[in-house]
Amino acid sequence: MINNIKDKFPVFKKKPNLVFLDTAASALKVDKMINAISDCYSYEYANIHRGIYELSSKLTKKYEDSRVSVSNFINSPSSHNIIFTKSATEGINLVSSCLSNNYFKDGDEVIVTGLEHHANLVPWHLVSKKIKIITASLNTKGEIDYNDLIKKINSNTKLIAITHMSNVTGSITNLYEIKTKAKKLNIPILVDGCQFVPHQKLNIKELDPDFYVFSAHKLYGPSGLGILYMKDYWIDRLGPYQGGGSMIKNVESDSSTYLDGNHKFEAGTPPIAEVIGLSSAIDFINEVGIDNIFSHEKELTNYAYNKINANNDVELYGDFKNQTSIISFNVKGVHYNDLAMLMDKKNIAIRTGHHCAQPFMKYFKISGNARMSVGVYNNKEDIDYFVESIKEIKNIFK
Ligand code: ALA
Repeated sequence: MINNIKDKFPVFKKKPNLVFLDTAASALKVDKMINAISDCYSYEYANIHRGIYELSSKLTKKYEDSRVSVSNFINSPSSHNIIFTKSATEGINLVSSCLSNNYFKDGDEVIVTGLEHHANLVPWHLVSKKIKIITASLNTKGEIDYNDLIKKINSNTKLIAITHMSNVTGSITNLYEIKTKAKKLNIPILVDGCQFVPHQKLNIKELDPDFYVFSAHKLYGPSGLGILYMKDYWIDRLGPYQGGGSMIKNVESDSSTYLDGNHKFEAGTPPIAEVIGLSSAIDFINEVGIDNIFSHEKELTNYAYNKINANNDVELYGDFKNQTSIISFNVKGVHYNDLAMLMDKKNIAIRTGHHCAQPFMKYFKISGNARMSVGVYNNKEDIDYFVESIKEIKNIFK
């Protein structure tokens, strides 16, 4: 178990009784990251990639060094495969828009699953005049039905866009099962790793997706920053996505040519302080150790699951053997929003509603549910208090 880590999260100094169980929505912020951003704005700030003066060139180096730490963190072949966006959502929109312009032909099929976050559905809907969206079903527990997905892969499939870990259930996708057939037919894969990357080691070289997105704010880092990994093959063929400064080779008043490589996708002044902040958040994760974070969170989730599962008033979603960090549930006879409101009165933060995954909710014929999700700062006392609070709240409605 990881101990005394709450000291590194300033919010607990102000709110020592906070039981934060909504890390899947956004993680609390670590002091190292906050300090890095504060130092950047206070002492180091200038625009980057443009200035010939010392402040600008030093910060440009720091920014590009941060790209290298992101690349190392996920074991990417090179930092040139890392593209910074304003969010993971923007990363998927970038890919859908660029594939639509340069790759999809009318009638091509894109496979998604019933477990996707809206961020990995709506960007495909936006280009659906061209493509046909095929949805892989869920099984009765709310897990991806891999047989159904694999059956749906055919010669018209031009992309599989899939979550690495469900934001509703915490289930980890068996991408290797899907990859084998996709690779045989040369079908690219886009992976939404927003929930996976904060909890488990990502080895991009081994997983070998074509596109992989995740966000900084779920990694104890700043909001306003997404990371898009893109394979060289696609970097050379796609884009640009947006036009503006920093992504051009030459501009005339009526035409322009663009940079090669990842910079072609980063128009305008980038999220400088956010990228530097992310690098410090990654330093924090590396100091604790991502494998230690995984075991700590797995132990806490198991502990919570066993207690919650023993409560007959609770209905659980997902197949726990594939899950980590998240437990998705409803308390019978208690509306999930009443539950969240009463939890809040007890200083417990959980997310309720459809979790930006309406197809999942529709599959179970519910409008939403409650979700508790743990991070590095949670401990068994948090879980005990949360589990007892479920019982106390249920008693109010009896
Ligand atoms: N994607 C985030 C969540 O699941 C916001 O809550």
